[in-house]
Amino acid sequence: MPQELSINPQAMRGWNRAVGGGSVRHRNRVSKLSTTTWTVAVAAVVAVAGGMAFAQKSKAPAQAAGEIPRVASAAPLHPVTIQRPAGPPRVNTGTTNFHGQAVTVACGTCHATTQPNARTHTSAELDQFHQGLKYAHGELNCLSCHNATNYDTLRLADGRSVEFADVMTLCGQCHGSQLRDYQHGAHGGMTGYWDLSRGPRTRNNCVNCHDPHSPKYPLARPVFPPRDRISVPVKAAAANH
Ligand code: HEC
Ligand code: HEC
Ligand code: HEC
Ligand code: HEC
Repeated sequence: MPQELSINPQAMRGWNRAVGGGSVRHRNRVSKLSTTTWTVAVAAVVAVAGGMAFAQKSKAPAQAAGEIPRVASAAPLHPVTIQRPAGPPRVNTGTTNFHGQAVTVACGTCHATTQPNARTHTSAELDQFHQGLKYAHGELNCLSCHNATNYDTLRLADGRSVEFADVMTLCGQCHGSQLRDYQHGAHGGMTGYWDLSRGPRTRNNCVNCHDPHSPKYPLARPVFPPRDRISVPVKAAAANH
């Protein structure tokens, strides 16, 4: 039908006039109706598109470059907890107090008086204290990480100090690709829920898996799996003995 195909009301009127007769008013009404419908439809499309553009623009600043966009969810998201060391390590004196508890001292107790030695970079050089420390971390010297002005903290490359509890900041400054993989969930593992709308997630710290002094992850030796006692028929299993 022509009036269904035509989208131009002027052309429609022309066609109606040419045809003439009692049906003109009816056809005109149809064409007027479609004009209104079209105007409404176009207005709606413009409004939706404009709304989307606005929404994207207002979202843009919250999302940092390279960050994976979040799937919108109405449910409140559960937290992600990253395990952290309790605080600075302490040295056990080997004695106990009157409660029977081990007596420990802070690193600063001695290091407030010793002269920091920025050249120590192997455990073989430790002959006065800390002998036997297992150490293999590239060519780093001890004060690449330990803070010479306060041994109860760590030190970043730009000289700022960082708490032992925030050790991941230290690891991440030299191992950027592993830190990025970690942030995206491809390194370091996790327990709990992948879908944070269903439950919380706990993540390991770099130092849960890597000893900062000897960080190479120990090699795993593959072994034969345990015998499957359920799916192997008893007779066949017995025949293997
Ligand atoms: C009982 C005293 C004492 C305590 C407590 C102590 N240190 Fe030391 N530390 C020393 C001495 C002495 C040396 C020098 C060892 C050498 O060169 O043979 C040293 C060396 C070091 C070095 C090598 C760089 C340098 O300045 O010589 C680092 C790093 C270090 N200690 C970190 C620590 C940390 C971290 C703690 C706390 C867990 C700690 N120390 C606690 C006595 C101490
Ligand atoms: C890659 C950074 C890094 C380097 C390099 C480094 N340390 Fe440490 N060190 C740490 C961190 C992190 C801890 C805290 C570990 C913990 O809480 O068990 C630590 C803990 C210690 C401790 C106390 C706990 C322990 O293992 O006895 C001593 C002592 C120490 N370091 C000495 C040294 C000495 C000496 C050197 C150089 C031979 C050195 N560190 C090099 C990061 C480093
Ligand atoms: C100042 C820079 C620096 C810091 C800080 C640092 N590393 Fe390293 N790391 C190195 C270098 C250099 C190597 C050696 C690379 C090589 O030998 O190819 C290395 C090697 C490693 C390796 C591989 C070891 C191997 O033998 O395969 C691991 C794992 C590692 N670091 C973990 C850590 C962790 C965990 C921390 C934080 C406690 C940390 N690193 C802090 C510089 C750093
Ligand atoms: C759940 C344990 C775990 C955690 C947490 C973890 N790693 Fe690892 N990491 C590993 C394992 C396993 C390997 C060895 C992979 C291999 O040999 O292929 C490794 C390898 C590495 C290497 C050596 C890569 C190479 O190619 O030799 C570096 C560097 C490293 N991790 C840094 C980090 C840093 C930095 C963090 C914290 C942001 C971290 N890791 C957290 C388990 C972990």
